[in-house]
Amino acid sequence: MSFVTRRKPVEAEARSEGSHHLRQTLSWPHLVALGVGAIIGTGIYTLIGVGAGQAGPAVILSFAIAGAVCAFAALCYAEMATLMPQAGSAYTYSYAGMGELVGWIIGWSLILEYTVVCSTVAVGWSGYAQGFLVSHGWGLPAALAAGPWGEPAGLVNLPAVAITLVVTGMLLVGTRESATVNFYLVIFKVVALVAFVALTLPGFDPSHFHPFMPYGFNAHVDPDGVKRGVMAAAAVIFFAFYGFDAISTAAEEAKNPSRDLTIGIVGSMLACAVIYMIVAAAALGASPFNVFAKSGEPLAFILREMGHPLASVLIAAAAVIALPTVIMAFMFGQSRVFFAMSRDGLLPRGLSAVNRRGVPAPVTLMTGICAALMAGFLPLKFIAEVANAGTLAAFIATAIAMMVLRRQRPELPRPFRTPLWWLVGPLAVAGCLYLFWSLADITKVLFFAWNALGVGVYLAYGRTKSRLAVA
Ligand code: ALA
Repeated sequence: MSFVTRRKPVEAEARSEGSHHLRQTLSWPHLVALGVGAIIGTGIYTLIGVGAGQAGPAVILSFAIAGAVCAFAALCYAEMATLMPQAGSAYTYSYAGMGELVGWIIGWSLILEYTVVCSTVAVGWSGYAQGFLVSHGWGLPAALAAGPWGEPAGLVNLPAVAITLVVTGMLLVGTRESATVNFYLVIFKVVALVAFVALTLPGFDPSHFHPFMPYGFNAHVDPDGVKRGVMAAAAVIFFAFYGFDAISTAAEEAKNPSRDLTIGIVGSMLACAVIYMIVAAAALGASPFNVFAKSGEPLAFILREMGHPLASVLIAAAAVIALPTVIMAFMFGQSRVFFAMSRDGLLPRGLSAVNRRGVPAPVTLMTGICAALMAGFLPLKFIAEVANAGTLAAFIATAIAMMVLRRQRPELPRPFRTPLWWLVGPLAVAGCLYLFWSLADITKVLFFAWNALGVGVYLAYGRTKSRLAVA
């Protein structure tokens, strides 16, 4: 069979092979917490400002569009994750649905996505951490609080580097402990958003919504060189919604995959979508969009401007304490994608060896270091878009894999079936393509360059080392 068309069997025996084995320690509350922990983060806490700058009050539409696309994709994920409860997420699904080369490209995209998400969230975290420190008179010098392309520019974003490395260390301690800590932090993060809404709603001013769509709908580059419009903002805001896919990478560690994964993926996605729409409406009603758009800590900024200094400090504290759960979830997901790829022989097996605690230590460490470097030097919007490009590719691939397997393997037992799959699948693909097209040009170029490199790596290594090639 050609290397392009050979496919991973859907029924592949995942739980095998000595040290290449993950323990089943997670049940659905852990997975919902992992999902919400991975979803609510820099997107709603920080990128809401970036999105408002690109779309004006119509950023609320951007939220709705990005949320709808993610909801379609989440349904496809739920079907695939319960059909193939193995580590690896979109990589594994596309390998089974579309063959090894496509599977590899998606895995390679996920490696980029997961690493860059960690960096993006770390930069968002840094904005709140710095705001929190400044409010106590302990702010870092500007040169150490932002990378060279930040606004204002600095030398290195030291808090972002530090938090990435701290989370890496926590993950090295072990999955179970991390998931339990995550559970409490998630509750804290949600309570902070609810408090934000409660405090801002009394100051709701409908005049902030006029004009509603100052930059139009379609993504376009304005004379100042910034990409604007509702869709341009949606392509960035998309960042806020994903993370449920990180749950599917933990499929092998679920105690009861079919029930736990369905509740985890669909439940966490829907809960977050509702929370976001309310927070976005409350933020826009409380402050004119162009006032908070440039802040590195927009939610804290809005509360401060409204005369709630204490609440502003508390929301910053919540972000500082709880945003690291997102980094944790994605770093966790990253190590599981690596794990799956190296178990299939497409990456060196040493990379995914798990230690006595069941933690894939080499890949966790490697991801942590790369993410920390990018967090230290790259600007927020840029890395958020790069992460989105990788995620969109993974969502498209998962939706296509779902449709291909429905046609070719209708007899497979599917604990969760995507409703109206013939409609939801194409809508997920079309929505993701439209969002991808709305990204900045530099992001698209970088994404394709990264994958061209990936194809080179595959031809040089995975093509011959693949477990299916040597089997
Ligand atoms: N959805 C996650 C966030 O907003 C990645 O931080």
